[in-house]
Amino acid sequence: MKIPFVDLQAQYTSITADVNAAIRGVIERGDYILGEEVRLFEEDFARFTGTSHAVGVGSGLAALELAFRAYGIGPGDEVLTAANTFIATVLAILAAGALPILVDIDPVTYNICPRAIEAAITPRTRAIVPVHLYGQPAEMEPIMALASKRHLLVIEDAAQAHGAMYKGRRAGSWGHAAAFSFYPGKNLGAYGDGGMVVTNDAAIAEKIHQLRNYGQRVKYEHVSVGTNSRLDTLQAAVLRVKLRQLDRWNDARREHAAMYGTLLAGAPCLLPTEAPDRTHIYHVYAVQVDNRSDVQQILNTRGIATGIHYPIPIHMQEACANLGYRKGDFPETERAASRLLSLPMYPELTPAQQQYVAASLREAMKQTLPAKIQERAVS
Ligand SMILES: Cc1ncc(COP(=O)(O)O)c(C=O)c1O
Repeated sequence: MKIPFVDLQAQYTSITADVNAAIRGVIERGDYILGEEVRLFEEDFARFTGTSHAVGVGSGLAALELAFRAYGIGPGDEVLTAANTFIATVLAILAAGALPILVDIDPVTYNICPRAIEAAITPRTRAIVPVHLYGQPAEMEPIMALASKRHLLVIEDAAQAHGAMYKGRRAGSWGHAAAFSFYPGKNLGAYGDGGMVVTNDAAIAEKIHQLRNYGQRVKYEHVSVGTNSRLDTLQAAVLRVKLRQLDRWNDARREHAAMYGTLLAGAPCLLPTEAPDRTHIYHVYAVQVDNRSDVQQILNTRGIATGIHYPIPIHMQEACANLGYRKGDFPETERAASRLLSLPMYPELTPAQQQYVAASLREAMKQTLPAKIQERAVS
């Protein structure tokens, strides 16, 4: 059996006619740049997230950077974010000219730890960027309370959390603004790059409209130093079709997570947990295992593709060397980075595929056990 990590072909099979018609519609109209479908998708996405404005941009990275710039976050400002994230979160802070300050994670949810945020605040702190990692929202209520007490902005990195909920409200509707990515493998993915900023602040939405389009207020009247980062009309047309399926797809992922939970009960690996006040949408289903590289290798030989999110924490990346962090600075992040293994997860996953993955993982963990015991005996 061959099991991919995500299966975008299987997804396309389930929506072929609608996607083809949507793409054809754009080609027939020829409104490729900031066309009708972009405006309609922005309306749909704002409604979906429960926010009043959504602005489509070129990527999740651009969504974060433009949100920072719209709020005037830049040189001299510190922005707090999780040490366990995809590097785009930190690159966006740097691109805006601000200084990323990393914060360790909660070892249970893998999300930024609210207590550690408070300890990292300085007089230069301007914003907090909670990342809803793997599709489970960060603990937004204490984060918003802290931000309000210390007069800080909160920009959610919701790139992995389209449709996830915290206390009955969607991820992306808690902060002052939120950034989404439509990278193809995301729960809501385009057929190329794409991103979105959502906010309830009309002035910020307007500013991002300008920034994404050369800083233009009206044609050839440029009021700020903008860029070219517009959500492509073809991508918006595809995303509009897919958004109609998103809750159903997220429900399927949740069922698969429950199924993995049943199939792996009692196995010597740590399964992901869903906090009681949250709806985890399992963008990534990550388990903790001993001897990860051996386990991953065995799964690979059995035709099972897995991922690691993320093998090298931000503070140990070469690109971030000048931030001045060292190994040991974020123990929870480092421990997670050395043990987490992401299993295949997509809505179209079948029970037979899941049984094969779970049985193979159990077998792989059994096979690697003697090596581990040997290692302990030697040390
Ligand atoms: C947490 C997180 N932030 C930001 C991004 C950046 O999104 P993009 O790839 O669309 O630039 C991603 C995904 O790639 C992500 O997972």
